[in-house]
Amino acid sequence: MKICVIGSGGREHALCWKFDQEGHDVFCAPGNPGIAEVAKVVQHAVHDRKAILDWANEVKPDLVVVGPEDPLIAGMADMFRENGFAVFGPGQAAARLEGSKAFSKDMMKRAGIPTAKYQSFSDPVAARDYASAEFAAGRPVVVKASGAALGKGAIVCDSLEEAHASIDSMLVAMELGEAGRTIVLEERLEGKEFSLLTLVSGSEILSLPVAQDYKRIGDGDEGANTGGMGTFSPVDWVSADLVRETEEAVVRPILSSLADLDIDYRGVLFSGVMLSDGVPYCLEYNVRFGDPETQSVVRRLGDGFADALLACARGEAIPAIEVLSEAVCTVVIASGGYPGEYEKGHAIEIREVMDGVEIFHAGTRMSGEELTTIGGRVVAVSATGLDGEDARAKAYAGIGAVRFEGMQYRKDIGL
Ligand SMILES: Nc1ncnc2c1ncn2[C@@H]1O[C@H](COP(=O)(O)OP(=O)(O)O)[C@@H](O)[C@H]1O
Ligand SMILES: [Mg+2]
Repeated sequence: MKICVIGSGGREHALCWKFDQEGHDVFCAPGNPGIAEVAKVVQHAVHDRKAILDWANEVKPDLVVVGPEDPLIAGMADMFRENGFAVFGPGQAAARLEGSKAFSKDMMKRAGIPTAKYQSFSDPVAARDYASAEFAAGRPVVVKASGAALGKGAIVCDSLEEAHASIDSMLVAMELGEAGRTIVLEERLEGKEFSLLTLVSGSEILSLPVAQDYKRIGDGDEGANTGGMGTFSPVDWVSADLVRETEEAVVRPILSSLADLDIDYRGVLFSGVMLSDGVPYCLEYNVRFGDPETQSVVRRLGDGFADALLACARGEAIPAIEVLSEAVCTVVIASGGYPGEYEKGHAIEIREVMDGVEIFHAGTRMSGEELTTIGGRVVAVSATGLDGEDARAKAYAGIGAVRFEGMQYRKDIGL
């Protein structure tokens, strides 16, 4: 089939790569130089809705896949649906699950989903008072911007001072802009985290293999939070039973709550889960594929991925997708300075890689004939192997094929 993908990151490269592997005819806007190797790319910006719609009208795809959260939150899936396209991606009403953490938490509470106790605020004085009372009762809080803040909106606070400073930075100094105009203060939970990616076609669901992600910049989970520095799959401590339990406790109830509001969900639901005292608590929902989870997950799937997405887009029963036994390890290579101010414009050299290794582009561009860095996360090296150790060894060998000034990556993905 013909598939149009919207987006330009590593996630979209992985999606386009998978569709191409399955033999589909892939188109992407605005894409990136890596995507251009597996899809016909046009450079329309994601926010240029008229250009994107005109392009889709010309291509006439059987399926449109909207990759990133911003266009979903802005209603791009609705735009395509209104124009008669089969779209994988929730409409604006459902995308509020990611666009507003305050809404999302209210929905979780209404649905009886296990989640951290919380309260939402837009008044800094009331927020500070609440934080003071929580800390006084021995309950540290997490301060979260309600809006989408590119992974910079959640601060796990160790002290009341830190909580007050975080509240002020969002509600008073407005450091996160609109995204931080409303904040959520949450009880801090302890536990291990995993994320579950579930394909959703109305009330039908199909969870994909679980990938573990690494959020911090430094080895051993030290340092600042990032968009994600690597992933691996399978994750041995997340059993099939835990996945089923999470589906029942976290995924199905939110979908029925949305259905009660007449909101239909057709896309992927990403549940961020913390397993605390054996209970899967929902930390958040995202309404799109994870990045860099997707780079690992698509490589664990046999054929039928695009067919499953098409079924979701049409609201039909989701056909099963074969899950491969190989393990996958994906390591992100970032620019010097990331996740702070980072360097751009360095030439990238990529040499031949061995079988089983793919290089997914995220922050790359062509400057004339030369491939150069433009983003914080530049490429991800993704390798399959017979087991986790084999995949890990191949991914790190693959890193040796990539070179640019200032490159940094974690050494402990998959350990
Ligand atoms: N209630 C909580 N208790 C403990 N840690 C939390 C809690 N909420 C979030 N975190 C931590 O902060 C990270 C980011 O929070 P999340 O809600 O996923 O926001 P976002 O991904 O939008 O930044 C989580 O992956 C988790 O490590
Ligand atoms: Mg998150």
